[in-house]
Amino acid sequence: MPSPSQEPARSLVVLDFGGQYAQLIARRVRDLGVYCQIKPYWTPVSELAAYQGVIFTGGPGSVYAQDAPLCSPELFQLGVPVLGICYGAQVMAHLLGGKVASTGAPEFGKTQTQFEDASLLFRDVPPSVTWMSHNDAVNQLPQGFSASAHSAQCPVAAMEDPARRLYAVQFHPEVAHTEYGSQMLRNFLYLVCQCEGGWEMGSFAKGEVARLKEQIGDRKVLCGLSGGVDSSVAAMLVHQAIGQNLTCIFVDHGLLRKDEGNLVEQVFRKEFHMNIIRVNAGERFLGKLAGVTDPERKRKIIGEEFIRVFEAEAAKLGKVELLCQGTIYPDVVESGSGQAAVIKSHHNVGGLPEDIGFEGLVEPLRDLFKDEVRRVGLELGIPEELVWRQPFPGPGLAVRVLGEVTPQRVAMLQEADAIFREEMAKAGLDRQTGQYFAVLTGARSVGVMGDGRSYGETIALRAVNTSDFMTADWVQLPYELLGRTSNRIVNEVPGVTRVVYDITSKPPATIEFE
Ligand code: XMP
Repeated sequence: MPSPSQEPARSLVVLDFGGQYAQLIARRVRDLGVYCQIKPYWTPVSELAAYQGVIFTGGPGSVYAQDAPLCSPELFQLGVPVLGICYGAQVMAHLLGGKVASTGAPEFGKTQTQFEDASLLFRDVPPSVTWMSHNDAVNQLPQGFSASAHSAQCPVAAMEDPARRLYAVQFHPEVAHTEYGSQMLRNFLYLVCQCEGGWEMGSFAKGEVARLKEQIGDRKVLCGLSGGVDSSVAAMLVHQAIGQNLTCIFVDHGLLRKDEGNLVEQVFRKEFHMNIIRVNAGERFLGKLAGVTDPERKRKIIGEEFIRVFEAEAAKLGKVELLCQGTIYPDVVESGSGQAAVIKSHHNVGGLPEDIGFEGLVEPLRDLFKDEVRRVGLELGIPEELVWRQPFPGPGLAVRVLGEVTPQRVAMLQEADAIFREEMAKAGLDRQTGQYFAVLTGARSVGVMGDGRSYGETIALRAVNTSDFMTADWVQLPYELLGRTSNRIVNEVPGVTRVVYDITSKPPATIEFE
């Protein structure tokens, strides 16, 4: 049962034509207070009729290509407002009888653009910079349309037929480079579609707790808590709905960062009084990993062991009907479209198989983006330390201890990593850096310590910024910070004689070393 703000009649739909910006558009719309979902371009028109407005994303090629993604022209007869963006604008022109052609001078990047004052879409938007990225553009307007913006290269930088509430822009209002992009989207939502707004995380949390109460009733729920933000927030919502009928199993595989297991336990057991079973299985996992150096073998062993430990604990609880999972919206969208499945398949480690024998799943975060999950977490009073926790691989430090994973080497990495995190926080860079960590590389090298020669381990530091974890840039951390961190690590962590900084982006490297 959707909560009031999730009903299609009060929300928008982003029709995905394959551009890279569908999720960004949806997030912008939600940031403006309107709930929004992403659907593929071939979604039946009947399903779209219930929404308050539709936004077409950009897309890859030309509308005249043989397999060009197009929607049904009937969509324009529903009376539902539509905003076409970039390729989406060309789809609208093409399907309504206009013409699209190469402008002869492709525009990529910032472009000075003029807007028609009378357009609702451009209310309160002065002449300003927009972000263009196109070869083709509309060169003949469909009947009923007029041009509502132009740039030097593009006479139809926007077009509209206000009587039918159809609007299209050649540029990208969703990206930060378009100066008044957010104002244009706001105008579309509130002036054209006449949305009421009200989508925000406080009301989401309240509505979701009520919805969960109804969905779960007096059944029992089990949740695998990892301390990651998604499972933590999911568990908290369910806890607020059903209290002690929720049991969380926290499998501590001994491969967490320094002090992390204790923090998770402290927060959820002591502060929130959740029913949590911590399984200290470090010895068991490290025993299985003894002598193993192949990264895929490590992942497999940890994945299998995790399921075994979880199942054994679950079996002790007797009958539990439902399983709670921290699935978030990008997971749903990605698995639905089939994209990205291959690259991410190895990331399921630490997850549970679907046939683990529950009546059903409880997934309170299925509709939320990561930043929304974080805001819900803060609303629910989860400490910032956990809410802002960086992504951490399911197999934990095992994939950051290259070569054999021994208790000593894990401890060495935990210390080095803790120093790096501490220095990042002191420098105020912890929040603005996507992911950063230390790796025990397995490379040994000669050093001098005091009067003697030493032969020790090499720690690599890695820090990346990324929007989707599919690509990532290495971060240019200040030399002073790197210097201080290196100094502290070689002085405070016995056995480490060298520290290096990784300056490779993804691709060609991956974020993790293994
Ligand atoms: P890569 O190394 O593939 O990592 O560039 C992309 C993101 O995924 C995380 N990662 C994992 N997460 N289980 C997980 O839950 C895994 O096995 C795993 N391997 C990588 C990685 O930390 C980065 O955020």
